[in-house]
Amino acid sequence: MLKTRLPRWPTAAGLAAWLLLSPTLAHAAPRPKVEDLYQQNCASCHGTNFEGGLGTSLSKGYWLHGSSDEDLTRAINQGFPDLGMPPWESSLAPDQVRSLVVFLREHEQSEAAKTAAVPAPKRDRSVVTKYQAYKLETLTSGLHTPWGLAFLPDGRMLVTEKAGPLRVVSADGKQISEPVKDTPPVMDHGQGGLMAVGVHPDYANNGWIYLGLADGWRDEKNEVKTITAIVRGRIKDGAWTDQEWIYRPGKPFYTGAGVHFGTRFVFDKGYVYFVVGERGGGLQAQDLKRPNGKIFRLFDDGKVPPDNPFVGQPGVEEGIWSYGHRNPQGLTQDTRDGSIWETEHGPRGGDEFNHIRKGLNYGWPVITYGMDYDGRPMPNSEGTAREGMEQPVKYWTPSIAACGLTFYNGDRFPRWKHDFFAGSLKAGELHRLRVADGKLTEEEVVLSGVGRIRSVENGPDGNLYLVFNGPDIIARLVPAGPVEPVPAGTP
Ligand code: HEC
Repeated sequence: MLKTRLPRWPTAAGLAAWLLLSPTLAHAAPRPKVEDLYQQNCASCHGTNFEGGLGTSLSKGYWLHGSSDEDLTRAINQGFPDLGMPPWESSLAPDQVRSLVVFLREHEQSEAAKTAAVPAPKRDRSVVTKYQAYKLETLTSGLHTPWGLAFLPDGRMLVTEKAGPLRVVSADGKQISEPVKDTPPVMDHGQGGLMAVGVHPDYANNGWIYLGLADGWRDEKNEVKTITAIVRGRIKDGAWTDQEWIYRPGKPFYTGAGVHFGTRFVFDKGYVYFVVGERGGGLQAQDLKRPNGKIFRLFDDGKVPPDNPFVGQPGVEEGIWSYGHRNPQGLTQDTRDGSIWETEHGPRGGDEFNHIRKGLNYGWPVITYGMDYDGRPMPNSEGTAREGMEQPVKYWTPSIAACGLTFYNGDRFPRWKHDFFAGSLKAGELHRLRVADGKLTEEEVVLSGVGRIRSVENGPDGNLYLVFNGPDIIARLVPAGPVEPVPAGTP
């Protein structure tokens, strides 16, 4: 009886092992999608819609045998022979078991969303979270897909729109300038366009503004070729002047792919950090001779610092600071110790929050907690961990589409001071992340239900600023009511 429920492929542990050891051959073999894996192997007991049968409902909102990913993995691998669930370890490959875990988590989340009590701020209503109450104030509407946000010393905002315009917005959000004239052309293509904007820390003296954009062209066949590039310039009389390229990759690296551009800036002690997304290049993220899938560190004028980790190695992109990234769209600095932190989009499952350190490999696509969008294991992935590759400080399964990250160091929310705030596009959530000794100690969703969160920034007024897409607004979280003093002894 059990036999009929076993998958038609692979039927033996040896086959599973063989498939794992020979990734090229694995591609030739049929790779069932996770939905089919579930229907073929699990639905007979757990129900076609997770409603249960011989086995328990997988929709009940709690887990009998432990709720972590490890617990679910163990449940599937080892089964509960005494209770009537066979072990799957010998008939499903580890990456298939992981894809089932992602799948169960996706279902769990969509069920939870039906009854979620996550704050959805309403006009003039305060939202009470664990440590702070806030109101969401909308400052600006009337922008089209606003992307990056940076503050000038006088409180005005520089805002990029994905299609290309750079605009100056008054501190109260009410006045939106005409597009700054003569900004560099951008390719508004797929996920790319005009993205990050940064203001040099010494702007008051040097006036430098940095832009991260999809640079490229349309070729004879009318095909678009792009890559993420970084430029700086000054704004004088409403026009972009004094332009200098900070980083513009070589022509061979421009690609027709429309995905995974990055990018963000962190400025620190004369350096600028930025992202070049992996551009759908998969294993290219592991290749130090290519810019894609990397976080860069350059001097603020674009020169390569001589102590960068790969300087002097033949053919490498010497600006690389860390590698093995997919699509980082959150980059920030813990201003207490200068450490660099990042969020990046995973595939289906496996978004990451990483502590970025010099020269390290963050593993994409060789290790990942996600699976491919079609429900098959990621090609070129060999699991979730490997010697010499960094583990995320936190991963999200299912994916939240992590976008925008800031280390909050304002004074308006004392009990949030020095927490990280990560936005998300898909889930539209703002996650508060508390880190101690390099480990995540607390996570709380403090906002959801407004729109896709594109950017999260510290405001010069000590409030927390958000850029939303759909609705296209800039808004800020301001304390609701008097700010309570921090009781002694609280974290
Ligand atoms: C032959 C029936 C049967 C099949 C097939 C089966 N299960 Fe189960 N499953 C069970 C039973 C029975 C339990 C234990 C329920 C209990 O604790 O009372 C269980 C428990 C579980 C649990 C733990 C649930 C919890 O609340 O902690 C998970 C997860 C799970 N199964 C996943 C799967 C997956 C994924 C598949 C397909 C690969 C699968 N099962 C196939 C019968 C089955």
